[in-house]
Amino acid sequence: MTADFPSEVLLPQKVLFRKGAVLDFARETADLGSRGLIVHGASLEKDGRREQILASFPDRRSLAFFCRKGGEPTLDEVTEVIEIARGAGAEWIAGIGGGSVLDLAKAAAGLFCAKRPPVHYQEGGRLEEKGIPFVAVPTTAGTGSEATPNAVIINPDKKAKLSIREKSFMACKILLDPDLLKGLPDAVMACSAMDAWGQGYESFISKNATWFTDVYALKSIELISRHLMTAIQTRSDETLAAILVGSYFAGVALAHARLGVIHGLAHPLGVLYHVPHGLVCSVCFVPSIQLNREAMGRKYDTMSRTIGQDLEQKVCKMIADLNLVSPFRGKPILEKEKMIEETLKSGSTAANPKPIGREDVEFLLKELF
Ligand SMILES: [Fe+2]
Repeated sequence: MTADFPSEVLLPQKVLFRKGAVLDFARETADLGSRGLIVHGASLEKDGRREQILASFPDRRSLAFFCRKGGEPTLDEVTEVIEIARGAGAEWIAGIGGGSVLDLAKAAAGLFCAKRPPVHYQEGGRLEEKGIPFVAVPTTAGTGSEATPNAVIINPDKKAKLSIREKSFMACKILLDPDLLKGLPDAVMACSAMDAWGQGYESFISKNATWFTDVYALKSIELISRHLMTAIQTRSDETLAAILVGSYFAGVALAHARLGVIHGLAHPLGVLYHVPHGLVCSVCFVPSIQLNREAMGRKYDTMSRTIGQDLEQKVCKMIADLNLVSPFRGKPILEKEKMIEETLKSGSTAANPKPIGREDVEFLLKELF
């Protein structure tokens, strides 16, 4: 078998990409059922979009809302959202927000009819029941969660961020609306997009990469590296659209090729230090390039050609220009053995082109702390 195509491809039924697409939300969900639950973050309320969406529904009582307070989603929060959705008689669940909002809504929709609690499925239990449709509306150009069939959820007992991965979790519809990025604070836009760029990079050099994933990954690297700085400075429609699509493409690539050691280490680091995922991944980017320089072979030159500059130099400059500094610098390394162990057994680390040993994780930690 050639490595040109993944053994299985999972894509949403429909992707709607245009300025103001979120205002078509009522029309786009009409065929999924009249009753739904929208999971969202605080900004949707503040900027008045929640009211706009509500006003577009013929019957306002058919919609229920769950506003997240922040932080990363936990197993208890998934259970809470499922209960609210069941109570509201929801026929679909949408997430309008960043990666945490999308992952929470995705898990709740996917496990809506599940007979066991979410932890059962996070621990590998088989899901027999089909969930209800999930609609993804990303408001950051970041995690690419809209394109993946997995939800990253914190398991507080294990103090770990773990995926629940089910093919049936894939969004049935995605609305990509560049207008939703307009109000993002600069720091959030910077970290999210650097995470997306890192995801494009890791899936491009992944051991599981195929022609199919390379096409998406390389385009995401091009779009984000070229437009991120201007997007932050100008918030122009064209540049916001470019990084939003770039982030979606990185999501498609990683859903089929997996990631690498950046994400293998980012999960335990994020849980132990409560640092935003995008920032952790941003500061791991350059050390990962140094670690993988030889193993990625000609793909390094391909990425450099695509961005029009040496990859490592370009990423270093972006990190410096965006003022992204390691939040771990000067801090003690907590639970080092556990962190190394979790990084080594991560599915992301397994896809890294250079086989990762404990000395490699120690190198990354030395660069960060
Ligand atoms: Fe990420």
